[in-house]
Amino acid sequence: MLELLGILPPLVLLVDLVLSMRKPSNSEMIPEHWKVRTFTKREVIEFTENYSCPIGKGWSSDIYKGTLEDNTLVAVMKSREANEDQRKDFSNAAMVQSQIIHKNIIRLLGYCLEDEISVLVYEYAAKGNLSAILHSEEHFPLESRLKIAVRTAEALVYNHSCVIRHGHVTTTNIRHGSVTTPNILIDSNFVPKLAGFSLLRSSIRDNDGSSHFGSDNLNYFDPIFPKYGILTVKTDVYSFGLVLLELISREKPVYQEGENRLVSRFTRAYDTDGTGEAMFDERITTQENVPVLDDIGRLALRCTSSETNARPTMSEVAGRLEMIRSSWQRRRMAMGATRR
Ligand SMILES: *[C@@H]1O[C@H](CO)[C@@H](O)[C@H](O)[C@H]1NC(C)=O
Ligand SMILES: *[C@@H]1O[C@H](CO)[C@@H](O)[C@H](O)[C@H]1NC(C)=O
Ligand SMILES: *[C@@H]1O[C@H](CO)[C@@H](O)[C@H](O)[C@H]1NC(C)=O
Repeated sequence: MLELLGILPPLVLLVDLVLSMRKPSNSEMIPEHWKVRTFTKREVIEFTENYSCPIGKGWSSDIYKGTLEDNTLVAVMKSREANEDQRKDFSNAAMVQSQIIHKNIIRLLGYCLEDEISVLVYEYAAKGNLSAILHSEEHFPLESRLKIAVRTAEALVYNHSCVIRHGHVTTTNIRHGSVTTPNILIDSNFVPKLAGFSLLRSSIRDNDGSSHFGSDNLNYFDPIFPKYGILTVKTDVYSFGLVLLELISREKPVYQEGENRLVSRFTRAYDTDGTGEAMFDERITTQENVPVLDDIGRLALRCTSSETNARPTMSEVAGRLEMIRSSWQRRRMAMGATRR
């Protein structure tokens, strides 16, 4: 136990805090209402059947499916390498994420930081990631895409307003730093759950930008970022704008030579045609949908503006999306239109 405390400074502070509140048992180092458990290495091996079911890859970690003793399905993120930096990342992530509780953000259920093993245990999202769904053959109506957009925006508003206690330090204005369609998970009710699997905080700490991003993340990358070397909430707004463009076009963003091709193509469409129609996913492009798709496209282009000051805040984006959605729903109701 003492060794563990030595390696995990942020958790030490938490332990202090808990010790003053209640007697911690082995599996509860964090206050009860956070409901984050510690698992032993052996327990993780058991409930993942020795990591036998891989379900995804992060930048520096692999993700496996597991089943807890009460049959709860979980996603287990395990670091690929065993080094001190990874450990710090994982313990920091555990500390921060145990305080982030929102219905559209993937819940941290527990962790294991034992010997060479760094593992975070999350709730499981049955339908997998948004990228896989969007680019599959599965029918994916505009209504679901809009719901996912609105809820994900709300999750980011929350993430940006979170006050994180880190020992005696409190941090506000937390930005996610990894808003991508592979990081938006979808549960069995088609509710999105934002995750941060592919990027942990210290990957950004080094300030040298692109070399630390996986290729997937790079495509959602804010071209402004290398200039300043720090992530801001407006970086998330940019990435969210790309997610919106991807949702309505079913095309993946591609970062190339300092700009994002998806943004340039949308910009060109609006500049030449006055509409983004040429870019929209034809599966959802109906006469009645074009105005709403155009509204989303314009909003997304504001999010991806190269002027950070011209970008809206996440709460403006969420408000605007909600408005777009409700006026679309009203119009559909009035027209008695069928779903598409
Ligand atoms: C788990 O898998 C690893 C490598 O695949 C193997 O070396 C190890 O013995 C296995 N452990 C158990 C408990 O089955
Ligand atoms: C997204 O889902 C697909 C299909 O299940 C999977 O192959 C891919 O690794 C997932 N991506 C991430 C980042 O987990
Ligand atoms: C919210 O922000 C913090 C700090 O950057 C991050 O660790 C956390 O993962 C974010 N939220 C989600 C959904 O993961």
